[in-house]
Amino acid sequence: MKWIRKIVEKYGKKESGLIPILQDVQKIKGYLPEEGISDIAAELKIPIARVYSLATFYKAFRLIPRGRHSIHVCLGTACHVRGGAKIMDRLEQDLGVRSGETTQDGRFTVESVRCVGCCGLAPVVVIDDDFHGKLNQKKVIQVLKKYE
Ligand code: FES
Repeated sequence: MKWIRKIVEKYGKKESGLIPILQDVQKIKGYLPEEGISDIAAELKIPIARVYSLATFYKAFRLIPRGRHSIHVCLGTACHVRGGAKIMDRLEQDLGVRSGETTQDGRFTVESVRCVGCCGLAPVVVIDDDFHGKLNQKKVIQVLKKYE
């Protein structure tokens, strides 16, 4: 792909530029597509496995696209004590995903976080930029309906 070649050239076609190359690709696509990884490897003349190994080592890189909405379930101490893990269980069950995954329909990506700074509202779930507090397993499913 031509746009990948441009990015690789920007970093001197050197393996030492692999991290910024992957960052640029992810900035454009939102994740690291399989064909992008093989193109990068070909351009740098290195094994695809080396690119994958770096892409999977750093949590910041994603190999699958993100959902239209991000759900961050707080599992910090206050939220955990007040049922955060139960909320995560319910979301995983209802949406058919594990933490870190995206739903089949591309609607949600579910992840856990450690304290989002409003412990008084525990347990808290942040969807996109919206904070939802004092949730329980039933309420969280109601809240999801607002996000198509
Ligand atoms: S522990 Fe969840 S907001 Fe602080």
